[in-house]
Amino acid sequence: MSRLDSVIRRLTAQRDCLGWAVDHAPEGQFLDIGLGNGRTYHHLSEIAPERDIWSIDRAMKAHPSSIPPKELYLEGEAVAMIEDLAERVGQTISLAHYDLGIGVPEKDRPLADAVGNVLHNILAPGALIVTNAKFEGFEMLPTPDGVPEGRYFIQRA
Ligand SMILES: C[S@@+](CC[C@H](N)C(=O)[O-])C[C@H]1O[C@@H](n2cnc3c(N)ncnc32)[C@H](O)[C@@H]1O
Repeated sequence: MSRLDSVIRRLTAQRDCLGWAVDHAPEGQFLDIGLGNGRTYHHLSEIAPERDIWSIDRAMKAHPSSIPPKELYLEGEAVAMIEDLAERVGQTISLAHYDLGIGVPEKDRPLADAVGNVLHNILAPGALIVTNAKFEGFEMLPTPDGVPEGRYFIQRA
């Protein structure tokens, strides 16, 4: 499979998993970990306009159409920013999307594990996480039809 086909499959899986999770998330706020260009943040804002959506990145590089409000954006390293968010909002996040890493599982594992460890401090009971890596200590849920096995994950706190 070409890398172009592969990225199309990954982004389709990401969109379909986020859509399912938005429909099934309990009450609460959302969090996008890895704002980047802001595509997933923008998508979440469109499909869940009634939710507050926090976002985190170590540097602002979002497209002008996808810049979150200042008060819901945390700039810095993901683990430290999640710890900061825990102090601000406690366990009120009902959907967290994790989109960090370079796509090389053995290199991405330590960061995913470190983020997984602190995520529990902000997640509401029954919160959903949508991720590009399996997280330890969360219940694995089935992904929507058509999402290739292992491409994207939905887990419950
Ligand atoms: C794949 S991009 C996210 C793409 C984004 N979800 C979108 O749809 O446009 C990953 C982003 O995570 C940020 N990032 C990577 N490692 C990080 C870390 N340890 N802490 C905070 N941000 C990080 C990078 O700066 C980059 O902008």
